[in-house]
Amino acid sequence: MLYPAIRKLLFKFDPETIHELTIKSLKSTGATPLNNFYKQAVADKPVEVMGLRFPNPVGLAAGLDKNGECIRAFDAMGFGFVEIGTVTPRPQPGNDKPRIFRLEQANAIINRMGFNNKGVDYLVDQVRKADFKGVLGINIGKNKDTPEEKAKDDYLFCMRKVYQHASYITINISSPNTPGLRSLQYGEALDELLSSLKDEQKILAERYGKYVPVAVKIAPDLTEEEIVSIAESLMKNNIDGVIATNTTLARDQVSHLEHGNEQGGLSGAPVKEKSTEVIAQLAKVLDGKLPIIGVGGIASGADAVEKIRAGASLVQVYTGFIYQGPELIKDIVQSL
Ligand SMILES: Cc1cc2nc3c(=O)[nH]c(=O)nc-3n(C[C@H](O)[C@H](O)[C@H](O)COP(=O)(O)O)c2cc1C
Repeated sequence: MLYPAIRKLLFKFDPETIHELTIKSLKSTGATPLNNFYKQAVADKPVEVMGLRFPNPVGLAAGLDKNGECIRAFDAMGFGFVEIGTVTPRPQPGNDKPRIFRLEQANAIINRMGFNNKGVDYLVDQVRKADFKGVLGINIGKNKDTPEEKAKDDYLFCMRKVYQHASYITINISSPNTPGLRSLQYGEALDELLSSLKDEQKILAERYGKYVPVAVKIAPDLTEEEIVSIAESLMKNNIDGVIATNTTLARDQVSHLEHGNEQGGLSGAPVKEKSTEVIAQLAKVLDGKLPIIGVGGIASGADAVEKIRAGASLVQVYTGFIYQGPELIKDIVQSL
């Protein structure tokens, strides 16, 4: 496979410049014969989760295709499902650059993008154009300038916009780069948000004659007590799935490295064990009542097997995919 050589070249440039260039080229080639450059056949390993049939259990994690511009390209690479977003009601620029850093020695990334995206209307337009028949997750969030007490309105707004276009919807309450977002993971704030979303899901299911599962994405930086409380709230509110985990604020494994103390969320190898622990703790409380999608530091088939053993039914990759390329999807599917 060509990817190690391509990566060597790509990694010579600023991460965000390369990211934008890659998105542009995947966007323009995804549904054309030029996709043969990255297209690959991946074995069928169908699984049924949240009432949806996944051709294989390996998904693209949120944040790489924030605007849903490359759905067909990622499908061609063999992902069993693609999660786009995080998208917010209105377009927003995100934080000042630079805001993404490679930590090559640690196979990691630190990012503080801050939900830079073109807004939910643009994303829906892209989804329509993609005419994608596979499993599509749409990950939604709040605008930075929406006050915390109005966060719920942003989620409901996005949910109504994306409902009929999504296979499942992810409620992102775990990005460390939007002030106050993670506080939605706790106590009454979480219960109130989830019950409103559940009520809205009922209305939308009737309106469109289609039940779209709702999953909640959580952080790795939680105590066992907090994980138990989140799991109980998910069950109480009949949420359909949980995605564990987002990036971490911890720096213990990387603080000695260049960029190791940049602000933002750390992903890749250093978050792997923490994510797996969260999955295992969730699994204990959930006891099979709702499925877990495992994400965080997966860079090989063996890493994915660890997540499944801990209790995940599906896995997602982001940082490992940047470091290993599309071959990683094949490797994981083969080892599951
Ligand atoms: C540059 C970058 C941007 C991200 N943006 C988002 C996002 O918009 N929404 C989200 O839910 N997760 C986002 N994530 C988190 C990933 O989806 C994933 O949960 C996390 O990186 C852990 O997985 P990994 O170690 O395989 O990267 C982002 C991660 C990175 C590296």
